[in-house]
This record gives sequence, C-alpha cells and structure tokens, in this order.
Amino acid sequence: MPGVKVSVLLPAAGSGERIGRGPKAFLEVGGKTLLDWALEGFAWADERVVALPPERSLETPGIKTVLGGQTRQQSVFNLVQAATGEIVLVHDVARPFVVRAAVERLLEAVRTSGAATLAVPVPDTLVQEASGEYGAVIPREHHRLVQTPQGFRRELLWKAHLKARAEGQEFTDDAQLVRWLGHPVALVEGDRRMFKITYPEDLLLAEGLARVWNS
Ligand code: CTP
Ligand code: MG
Repeated sequence: MPGVKVSVLLPAAGSGERIGRGPKAFLEVGGKTLLDWALEGFAWADERVVALPPERSLETPGIKTVLGGQTRQQSVFNLVQAATGEIVLVHDVARPFVVRAAVERLLEAVRTSGAATLAVPVPDTLVQEASGEYGAVIPREHHRLVQTPQGFRRELLWKAHLKARAEGQEFTDDAQLVRWLGHPVALVEGDRRMFKITYPEDLLLAEGLARVWNS
C-alpha cells in the first residue's frame, strides 16, 4: 500500500549485560555504532523513533527519541506511544544488518495480515537440557528462531501493549504480545545476516560482515 505511513521503532535502551561493555547500541562495528547501522538500514522509513537509555542523547537530525524503560517491553511501549505511522516496524538495534529484501517481505505480510515477524529455521539439532544431560530432541523442522523487525498495524500493537501493562504481563518480543491478545502473527522468511549481537563473540562476526556489507 504505497501512501501508508511506516514508522520504524528502535529499542536501543538495553544495558548490554551479556557483553559487558556498556549500552550495546553505542558499541561500534565497522566504524559506526549499532544504532547508526540500524538508523541507516531504515533510512527510507517515514518516521524513525529510538528508545534511549537514560543519560544518552542523539544528535542525528530528523530522528525522534523517547526514554527507554526497565525492560524491552517498556521501551517499546514508549516507542509505540510516540509513533504516528499506520504501520510500525519494531527492530532491535542489536541487529545492525538490515536486509532490505527481508524487510520488504515482512511489510507485504503486515499489509495483508496486520501482524508479522521475520523468523529463520533452526540450523542445529535442538535438544532439551536436563541436569547437563542430553534430553529429548525437539523436531527442529517445526521450530523457528524469531528475528526482528516485527511489523504490526499500530493500533493493534498499542492495544496489546495497553492490555499487557494493565495485566502485568511481560514478553520478550512484540509478536508474543500480539498473539497473546488473540491476533495471529504471520511468520515471514528472515535472513541469517540479521542475527542479534548478544555475546562478545558476536561482535567478531559482525566485524567480519561489516567489512563486506557494502560490496
Ligand atoms: N532494549 C531496550 N530496553 C531495555 C532492554 C532492551 O530498548 N530495557 C533493547 C536493546 O537495546 C536491544 C533489544 O532491546 O536493541 C534486544 O535486547 P538485548 O539483545 O537483550 O539487549 P540488552 O538488553 O542490552 O542486552 P543484555 O540482555 O545482555 O543486557
Ligand atoms: Mg536484554
């Protein structure tokens, strides 16, 4: 639907505990911050809104900012509240490599179904851990690893956030929240380059990818 305004919401307020080098959004890969990678990856959007940690600010012109919350969900709540687009895409700043073709697939699904997320197949054998032992194997062909961006009609996501807040429910992503509200969320083929930087070694992978990103 050309003409429908798209807001990109970037939660960037996490403290990056597992890497242990301060707020992750401000770590550099390939000479620029993860936040700048994400902002550039969505330069085409009608609106970009960033949730920042306290005591951080952003000088980039044309970008709206809000204060992040204690949890990712609280940060996204503040972002949705500030958004004006009919469609919102929520994207973790910890995923700096934005693959345009995957985002286009997602947008198409959001336009038709109102809620969708990128997801990728599980490449490894997936097993339950039971006291350090190899437990039951989970059929990986029936499972997906969920990525971002996740896209929604803004009013639907807002309704889900309001209800979750009122009932004290916390979720790790927005697709869960919308599904919990009772609305189906379409799974759209993601891209493994959109991996999340979570552990120190992920930064090494990101440095390698950054080197070839523009070629
Ligand atoms: N995030 C946020 N507000 C929070 C927590 C997380 O905006 N209170 C954001 C992060 O900045 C990140 C995304 O949510 O872009 C995914 O979170 P995660 O990868 O867990 O980042 P951190 O919470 O910063 O890392 P850690 O869990 O290791 O502390
Ligand atoms: Mg976290």
